[in-house]
Amino acid sequence: MSGGGRESFFVTCPAGLEPLLEAEMRELRLARTARGVRGVGFEGSLQDAWRANLHLRTAVRVLWRVARFAAPDPDALYAGVAALDWSRFLSPERTFRVVVRSRDSALDHTLFVAQRTKDAVVDTLRSPDGRRPSVDLEDPDLRIHVHLFRDRCTLSLDTSGASLHRRGWRRTQGPAPLSEVLAAAVLALSGWNRRAPLLDPFCGSGTLLCEAAALAAGRAPGITRERFAFEALPGFDPTAWAALREEARAAQAPPRKLVLRGGDASPRAIEGARENVEAAGLTDRVQLEVADARDFAPRGGWNAWIVTNPPYGERLGAERALAPVYRAFGAALREHCAGYRLALLSGNPRLAANLEVSPDRTVPLKNGAIDCELLLAAL
Ligand SMILES: C[S@@+](CC[C@H](N)C(=O)[O-])C[C@H]1O[C@@H](n2cnc3c(N)ncnc32)[C@H](O)[C@@H]1O
Repeated sequence: MSGGGRESFFVTCPAGLEPLLEAEMRELRLARTARGVRGVGFEGSLQDAWRANLHLRTAVRVLWRVARFAAPDPDALYAGVAALDWSRFLSPERTFRVVVRSRDSALDHTLFVAQRTKDAVVDTLRSPDGRRPSVDLEDPDLRIHVHLFRDRCTLSLDTSGASLHRRGWRRTQGPAPLSEVLAAAVLALSGWNRRAPLLDPFCGSGTLLCEAAALAAGRAPGITRERFAFEALPGFDPTAWAALREEARAAQAPPRKLVLRGGDASPRAIEGARENVEAAGLTDRVQLEVADARDFAPRGGWNAWIVTNPPYGERLGAERALAPVYRAFGAALREHCAGYRLALLSGNPRLAANLEVSPDRTVPLKNGAIDCELLLAAL
């Protein structure tokens, strides 16, 4: 497990994004990528894991697989966990938490598995004076992942810490913000060429615009983040990490003339989007205005991309109020946007039908627990 040796990693992502994530990983020249369920494996050095954390836009976490063993019963689980030299990763002053997933395994009680794992870790680390690392569910120093599948256990350490959708620029959420990871996926699936104008008439807190600006500039999503868990793991080399970050910074090249424009009917949403855009250092790149999407009338002949995420109307009564908004927005698209491309993330097929736009393609996606469809159309 040295910095230069070959290790095994698993990069997690939301369900359905595995092909996009794998494509990103190959572009990053990560070796032996292997698509799994809600993630993609690769092999490489610890530095490769740092690069994955820094550069991957559709990743949620980068897990470092540190052990694999048969765990058909609680004793085997305990023995397998206790066999690892935990002093390399944790000291009595530090905190940890155990995250468990179990599928097709006898040990299917995840709380019990977490408890047994915790006991095994703590028992191997208890100092002579009785001190031991403690559990912190909110903000632990180390997250240990236990993955059980058909009675085999894979133990991994989370090299990311907080989920990678936390790029570090978000100041305000708005009522229904898109995750940065999903926004990156929507942009990739939209086929946006990173040069054409990009418009989001339901921009909310500005997630799609911030992600688009970062994508166009080749800005690594993790460059604005304060901390990754790997900084406290063995093999971490601050000088090499600083060099990787510097390399990523130097590779940024914001396009000079790119138009990124967002509108939202809510002045509060636009205020929030402004704060986010400013924190992301993108004030001069993203134009924002309070505007009603029913009056959407961008310049003709622009060949722009409209990439957007209108409200879904989950709350009772909201759907009825939104139907006319969708109808008017659909009419505006037909009237003003010939030659444009549309990528619209819809969480409500009944509402989307009001657009009267027939998509060339639809891609199923999940927005948290909500089943969504990304409608892709040439207008
Ligand atoms: C699902 S949210 C968009 C979230 C956004 N993608 C983000 O990441 O924050 C939908 C947004 O549409 C806005 N909205 C609702 N009706 C509108 C209308 N008629 N015109 C423009 N925006 C509208 C809401 O204020 C809300 O911010």
